[in-house]
Amino acid sequence: MLFRSWAQTADAHWPDVARVRDHVGVAHLVVTRHALVREVLTDPATYRPDNALDAVTPIPVAALRVLAGHRFRLPPTLANNGGASHPAIRAIVADALHPTRVAAQRPWLTDLVRERVGGIAATLDAGGAVDLYARLAADLPLLVLARLVELPDAPVGAVKEFARAALELFWAPLDAERQQALAAEVGRFHRVLREFAATGGGLAGSLRAAGHPPDVVVGALFFLLVAGQETTSQFLTLLLHRLTGEPAVLAGLRDGTVAVADVVEEGLRLEPPIVTWRRVAAVDTTLGGTAVPAGTSIVLWLARAGRDPSTVDAPDEFRPGQRGSRRHLAFGAGAHRCVGDQLARMEAAVVVAETAPLLDGVSVLREPWCPDNLTFRMPDAFVVRRR
Ligand code: HEM
Repeated sequence: MLFRSWAQTADAHWPDVARVRDHVGVAHLVVTRHALVREVLTDPATYRPDNALDAVTPIPVAALRVLAGHRFRLPPTLANNGGASHPAIRAIVADALHPTRVAAQRPWLTDLVRERVGGIAATLDAGGAVDLYARLAADLPLLVLARLVELPDAPVGAVKEFARAALELFWAPLDAERQQALAAEVGRFHRVLREFAATGGGLAGSLRAAGHPPDVVVGALFFLLVAGQETTSQFLTLLLHRLTGEPAVLAGLRDGTVAVADVVEEGLRLEPPIVTWRRVAAVDTTLGGTAVPAGTSIVLWLARAGRDPSTVDAPDEFRPGQRGSRRHLAFGAGAHRCVGDQLARMEAAVVVAETAPLLDGVSVLREPWCPDNLTFRMPDAFVVRRR
C-alpha cells in the first residue's frame, strides 16, 4: 500500500493512524485524517522534518561509493532542515519566488502555452495523437523556474532525468543494481550544481552573498530543481488527465460558470502530485490515541487528508468551489509549507485556462502510468486524440 497509496479506493477503510511495514521491514505510522496530519505538520517540536529526504530503500555501500565518488552531499537545507539555519535560507528562496515575481512571469508563460496549444490543436485537427505530458507538462515548470531563480541554460532533458532519478533513488522500492545506476545519475548532476552554486547569479548569488556555505547553496538548488519543477509537471499531467473525465467541469470553464482557480484547487485536493510526506517523532508522544515512540517515522497521507469527509462536502467528487475544496494539505502546513505554492498555482491556472477548450472532445489513447513510489506520482505519457 505504501508505494501505491494513490491507488487505494475511496471506500477502503483506514484507521486514523495505521502501523504499516515497508518492503525492508521498517514500521511507519501512516496518518490518514486531515486534523491529525495538520497537527503533525504544525508541531515541529514534537515531529521533526529531518527524515523528509531519507532514502526509503537504504542505499547500499556500492551506491554510496558512487555518490561519494561524485562528492555528493546533501546537508539539511530546506524540507529536511529543522535546525536554526532554516528560516534564513527559506526567506531567501521565498524572496526569489515572491508572488509579485511569479505574477510577472504570467504573460510570458501564457504566450508560450498559447503557442504550444496552437501546435497541439493543429496535430489533433489533422487526426494525430498528442502526448500532453511531453508537449505541455514536462518542461514548462522548469522553463519558468529557470527564469525566476536565474538558472543557467542546463539542458531541459538532463535536468528532468536527474530530477526523476532523485525521486526514484530516495522514494522508491529498489534493488541494488538500480540504486547504483540512479546514484551515478544523481551524482553526475550534483557536480554540475556545485559549479553553478559557486559561480551562478540569481538565487545562488543571493545565498552566497548572505554568507551561506557552498553546501547549502548546492542543497537549495538540488531541492528546487526537483521540488520546483517535477512536482508541477506531474500535477499538470494528473490534472489534465482528470479533466478529460470531467465534462461538466470543462463545460463550466467554457461558459464561465466555473472559475479556473477553483479547478486548480480542486485538482490539488484530488490529484496531488505528492501523496505522502514524512516527519519523525522527536519525543515519545501520542497521536490520535496511538502511542508514538521517539524516532518513529510518520507518513502523512496528504492525498487522503484531502478527501477527509470531515473537511469537504463531497470528498470524492471533482466539484470546483465546493465547501472545503481549498482546505487540502497538498502543499503541507506550518514552518515548511511549500514556498512554491503560488508559482505552482499560477502555472496550473495558465495551463488549464489555455488547454481546457482542447480537452473538450478528446479521447484518451493512453492514460499516464505511475510507478511505485512512497511520495511522488510521477505520471508518464498521456496521449489523447480528437474523438
Ligand atoms: C503542485 C506543485 C507542488 C506541490 C504539490 C508541492 C508540495 C510540497 C510539499 C508537500 C512540501 C512539504 C511541506 C511541509 O513539509 O509541510 C513542499 C515543500 C517545498 N516546496 Fe513545494 N510543491 C509544489 C511545487 C513547488 C514549486 C513550484 C516550488 C518552487 C519553485 C516548490 C518549492 C518547495 C520548497 C522550497 C519546499 C521546502 C520548504 C521548506 O522546507 O521551508 N514547490 N512542497
